[in-house]
Amino acid sequence: MASGQILKNTNAKLLDEFNASVMFDKELYAQDIKGSIAHSKMLALQDIITVEDQEKIEAGLLQVKDEIESGVFEWKIEHEDVHMAVENRLTQIIGDAGGRLHTARSRNDQVATDFALYVQDKSLVIKQKLKTLMKTLVNIADKHTETLIPGMTHLQHAQPINFGFHMLAYANMFKRDFERFESSYKRNNNCPLGSAALAGTPHNIDRFKTAELLGFDAPTACALDTSSNRDFALEILFNISTSMMHISRLSEELILWSSYEFGFVKMSDEYATTSSIMPQKKNPDVPELLRGKTGRVYGNLISLLTVMKGLPLAYNKDTQEDKEGVFDSVKTMEISLDILTAVMDTLIINVDTMEKACKVGHLSATDLADYLVKKANMPFRTAYYITKDVVAMANKLNKDMSELTIEELRDANDEVKDIDKEIISYLDLRNSMNARTSFGGTSTAATLYQIDIFKDWLK
Ligand code: ARG
Repeated sequence: MASGQILKNTNAKLLDEFNASVMFDKELYAQDIKGSIAHSKMLALQDIITVEDQEKIEAGLLQVKDEIESGVFEWKIEHEDVHMAVENRLTQIIGDAGGRLHTARSRNDQVATDFALYVQDKSLVIKQKLKTLMKTLVNIADKHTETLIPGMTHLQHAQPINFGFHMLAYANMFKRDFERFESSYKRNNNCPLGSAALAGTPHNIDRFKTAELLGFDAPTACALDTSSNRDFALEILFNISTSMMHISRLSEELILWSSYEFGFVKMSDEYATTSSIMPQKKNPDVPELLRGKTGRVYGNLISLLTVMKGLPLAYNKDTQEDKEGVFDSVKTMEISLDILTAVMDTLIINVDTMEKACKVGHLSATDLADYLVKKANMPFRTAYYITKDVVAMANKLNKDMSELTIEELRDANDEVKDIDKEIISYLDLRNSMNARTSFGGTSTAATLYQIDIFKDWLK
């Protein structure tokens, strides 16, 4: 029977089933027990319970933990949630002392604490995994600072870049993600416990002690805010969503690149799947799933935002709906980071195909315009139109601009009929890439410099 008072209960089982969260919030058992041990220690230090009772409580809770971890613990719907289930079993084991544990707290601050501990723990795990992924990307980058690949905008060939630079773009996204998890961790590292139901407690508790015992920086400020605050959960959902968006973008590129039309990469057989009816096929199921799961993760963020938006202060049972989405997003993020790292680690990079693709689409066209601006002091717009004529000439000859002879180029427009023959070397694709030496640019040297900075940061 649920703990809330029911006036006339004709269908207790239905209510229990509807009201209970134990089947999913048992995920929080370790945090619940950790929080209860800390709370009991603080109660004993403050002489609110005796040291003997505290010792019994702690030993009992550790036994409950063992029972849960060895699989002998019986989770029952009637216990409603993980908090009641653990407390019930504790009281069975140690008797009356178990009943003293709930002094000066409520399930409202208890669940907020368990959940905050979970979110903080998982942030650290995710940060570690993000770091592993970044290391993999930087490793690839390091090996491919001279590998040409068409840089694109609008998915159209734009300018030649190097593949290392392309990998570094993703590494930078994941670095921002890492920092986002880090700043959320810092902002939310406050302990709800001791806020009690909504208004604090008349008992002489020491919330700073509890916070310290649990590894929080401080207790949360306002009990009324604390008991229904789920910003920390929303933040991890947002942080995961943003990071999954980055994962999804990289996945999208892997899918495109591994298609016949691109042929830039091949996913290792270990991480590719085949079709049940077309034996010749190799499908990019892994990046497709990463892209697909991103949608689910966004859903979890929107769900919780929606749950929260109409809640009057303070605790409302609606917030029990906060957990499943967070558990799901966290698990999705963890496995996604692991598998993406593995895919990237074993990715086969077709350097020749990438470089060949650069010879399509006049990737060095901007270099001609830049040359005219720099050497002939032309307004950029004039240079742009001359370049357009040279592109037309190359198209007419069925050549890439980087393959034009000086005579062919001079023929394209009167303004360039006397252009120095050195321009040909400016139109070379590798030179074009290497010309972009500005900070954050794609030249091999600038890329290597960025890699150095990144590696320093990774340490
Ligand atoms: N299972 C509940 C939850 O997840 C715990 C808090 C219950 N508090 C209450 N006042 N009914 O939110």
